[in-house]
Amino acid sequence: MCGIVGYIGNNAVTEELLNGLKNLEYRGYDSAGIALNDNQKIVVFKASGKLTNLNAVLSEKKAQSCSSTVGIGHIRWATHGKPSIENAHPHLSNDGNLVLVHNGIIENYKELRQQLTNKGVVFHSQTDTEAAVHLFAEEYKKCGSLEQAVRKALSQIKGAFAFVIMHHAEPDKIIAVRKNAPLIIGCGNNENYVASDIPALLGKVKHIIHLDDDEMAVIKKDNVTVKDVLGNIIQKKIEKISLQPDVISKNGYAHFMLKEICEQPAILRNVLQKHIQNNEIFLDDAKIVVHWEKVRKVVIVACGTSLHAAMVAKKVWEEWLKIPVIIEVASEFIYQNNLIDENSLVIGVSQSGETADTITALKQAKICKAQIMVLTNRIDSSIVRYADSVVPLNAGVEISVAATKSYMAQLAAFYWIGLFMTQKINKISCLAFSEKLQTLREIPEKIEEILSHRQYIESLAQKLKTYAAVVFMARGFNLPTAYEAALKLKEISYINANAYPAGELKHGPIALLDEQMPVIALFEEGETKPKLLSNCEEAKARYAPVIGIGGKRCSDVFDAYIETPDTDACFSPLLLCVPIQLLAYYTAKALHREIDQPRNLAKSVTVE
Ligand code: M6R
Repeated sequence: MCGIVGYIGNNAVTEELLNGLKNLEYRGYDSAGIALNDNQKIVVFKASGKLTNLNAVLSEKKAQSCSSTVGIGHIRWATHGKPSIENAHPHLSNDGNLVLVHNGIIENYKELRQQLTNKGVVFHSQTDTEAAVHLFAEEYKKCGSLEQAVRKALSQIKGAFAFVIMHHAEPDKIIAVRKNAPLIIGCGNNENYVASDIPALLGKVKHIIHLDDDEMAVIKKDNVTVKDVLGNIIQKKIEKISLQPDVISKNGYAHFMLKEICEQPAILRNVLQKHIQNNEIFLDDAKIVVHWEKVRKVVIVACGTSLHAAMVAKKVWEEWLKIPVIIEVASEFIYQNNLIDENSLVIGVSQSGETADTITALKQAKICKAQIMVLTNRIDSSIVRYADSVVPLNAGVEISVAATKSYMAQLAAFYWIGLFMTQKINKISCLAFSEKLQTLREIPEKIEEILSHRQYIESLAQKLKTYAAVVFMARGFNLPTAYEAALKLKEISYINANAYPAGELKHGPIALLDEQMPVIALFEEGETKPKLLSNCEEAKARYAPVIGIGGKRCSDVFDAYIETPDTDACFSPLLLCVPIQLLAYYTAKALHREIDQPRNLAKSVTVE
């Protein structure tokens, strides 16, 4: 949700900023801009739309030839104000001296705007951010120090922010501050960076500093000083970046999404090898400190795809552990009486570890004294700070906005943790335990088999792309897979897709069915199968085209059928998620959509 880059050093700053922003494009692509501190004058370049538009503006204005070596840049995911040049960052003070980029939301921006307008300040955008730049500028006029002005103004700002700020009279520094929005400092040799996330710094620096909430970094070419709200210096840990620069390459695939789908067997194999050896579960890099004897209920909070992984966990864990598992949409959790206490285990699931809704929910759970566990793909992310237990997903960097491999890794984590807990509380026989481990170990090869038949799914997508809306339905363990299928299809193809428990169709949604509304049913073995087949017949009787996905084709009701290898119903979500990802991918491809960067979305949603 908005990407920030700042650079101070010896190189031409335009190129440094563009390189960094390119690697942050997954965070937003509504508009882009950079500001340079050039011979004590601030120069700003902006463009609406993707970074390529900014490139064009920079070439036209010959910005590349600018000799400045200090600057800040931003790519925006619009919150306040439509994507336009006026609303694009960086925002400049009216005297043209102070400039900033912002990620987050200033909650009291209306009040600040009013106060500043009363003092005669003129506003040029609809953004919440602009209130901050004028506030900083007003404070600067009083004290003449950027550091002090920022500190003074921050006490008046409510909400979430990562600000990176420059002043023309202080060209030797960039100031970075954060509260509930990520920022890291990249430490180089006689040059330093600041960015929202590590990909912006890959290949540039080897060491970083994580800025924490309420900390301010004064970043100069040859040193970085981090201070608290009162201005006291804080000694920060300098950490080595472990990611290799090639993690952000497509490796020959047309899109990151397809690359990430195809990485899933290897990711699953790796996770299983890490955690399962000789019929035993190992924690490996996971840190789990749960007082199991106290746990009376499990509550899982998450959003989007992570929420669907949590829904699978509910079905599996309740069967294995025989304790209630409650799934909460993170953005709703904070408004209700959740009845949690020290006997509750609250689990936050987040690929990015930066999702504001999930973090806020965990903060609230912590206040209620719940035990907190986090499953995340980014162990350096903000969410980890609120956790007693942290389970790294080990899916590798996921660039495509549509989550695929991280979903697989979330499911994998829920399965191995579920088995681990089942053993801890003695809810499973040795035989049943080793049978489950064996079933799990066979899954990666079965996913490979599905991937090897992806051409058939591509051919089905040619037909699917002609419909305006699609219904997914399932029963049992794969109802969450149906929800995930609908989310995946709508977010990248823009086809209106909805998912229902198959039994619910007849209670309303069946009214939608006709020959223009395909119904896609997800099958698993067991008692749900005959009932789901009947629901397919009901759809067919209303002229809906019916597509089945699951084990062996068992009826002639289907107009098309994607066969997946057999497995136990409870593990089948690991298999069925793959064809639904491919179907979404190929449908979006057939419609020539911007698959890795779908409209209106961003990879990391750092606002509530
Ligand atoms: O980083 P998180 O897992 O917390 O993100 C949650 C959702 O924003 C995310 O899963 C979103 O729904 C994806 N775009 C789905 O593909």
